[in-house]
Amino acid sequence: MHRFTTIHAIRQHLASLRTANTVLGFVPTMGALHEGHLDLIRQARQACDLVVASIFVNPIQFNNPDDLARYPRTIEQDSEMLERVGTDVLFFPTAAEIYPEAPQLRFDFGDLETVLEGAFRPGHFNGVGVVVAKLFNIVQPDRAYFGQKDLQQVAVIRRLIRDLSFPVELVRCDTVREADGLAMSSRNRNLTPTERTQATAMYQALQLAQSRLSEGQSPAVVKGEILTFFEALPHFRLEYVEVVNADTLQAVSETQAPGQTAICMAAHLGKVRLIDNLVF
Ligand code: PAJ
Repeated sequence: MHRFTTIHAIRQHLASLRTANTVLGFVPTMGALHEGHLDLIRQARQACDLVVASIFVNPIQFNNPDDLARYPRTIEQDSEMLERVGTDVLFFPTAAEIYPEAPQLRFDFGDLETVLEGAFRPGHFNGVGVVVAKLFNIVQPDRAYFGQKDLQQVAVIRRLIRDLSFPVELVRCDTVREADGLAMSSRNRNLTPTERTQATAMYQALQLAQSRLSEGQSPAVVKGEILTFFEALPHFRLEYVEVVNADTLQAVSETQAPGQTAICMAAHLGKVRLIDNLVF
C-alpha cells in the first residue's frame, strides 16, 4: 500500500497508474476504522482495479469542538487494517494541506439539510460537502463507497454529484453491526462498558418501529411508541426519531414503496451521540 500526505504526491502517483480502462474506487473516512469501514473497502476491492482510501478528521464538519477533540485517532492501526484488506493507496493529509486557508465556498443542500442531522448539526453537511468535493477532485474516482449508516450523508453526496456533475458512481453499502445489533461507529470507542451494553436499545427501538410500521401502524403512532420506549431508558437522551422517505429524507405520514421507508434516530448516551437507521 502506498501512503501519501500531500495532494501533489497522490495526484502524481494516481496519474502514473491510471489508464483509460482503470476503474478507481474511493472510500473516504475519518479513521478509527472498524468492520463497517473495511466492508466498504472490500466492496471497492471486488468491483474496482484500484482502491484508494482517505483518512482525514475533517474539522469543518464538526459543529461541536468537544466531539472533534474526542474523535479517536488511530492512524497506525488503521493503516495496517487497510493494507490487510487490499487497499492500494492511502491518503492521510493534515488539516493545513486540505485547508491552507478557511474555505469561503458554502454548500446549501436545501430541504435535505434542514431535517434530521442537518437540523441538529448546523453546518455539518456544508463541511461534508466541501471536503468530499475536494477529495473527489484530488482522487478523481469512478466509484465512491458510502455507508447507509449515514443515510442522510448518502443523500447529500448524491446531490453533490448531480449538482456539480462529478463523473462518480455512488455506491451505498449496508450498515455493519455488532453481534447485538449496535451499528459499528468510531464513536462507540468512547462508550463506557455499561453504556456499551445499554447502547443496543437503539437497534431494538429501530426493530420495534419497523415491525409496527410493517403491521400497518402509522408513522405518527409509531413515533409516539418510540418516545415512550426511550422514556423508560433515562440514560438515553433521544434527539429525534423520524419516519422518512429513504431518498429525500423528508418525513412521511405513511409507509413508502418497498425499500423506500427509513426510520432514523439520534440519541445521546453519556458523552456519545449515536445515530442509526433502518431502511425497509
Ligand atoms: P466516517 O464516519 O469515518 O465514515 C466513513 C464511511 O464509513 C462513511 O461512508 C460511513 O457511512 C461508513 N460507515 C461508518 N460506519 C459504518 C457501518 N457501521 N457500516 C457501514 N458503513 C459505515 O462519514 C464520514 O467518515 C465523513 O463524513 C466523510 C464522508 C469521510 C467526510 O469527512
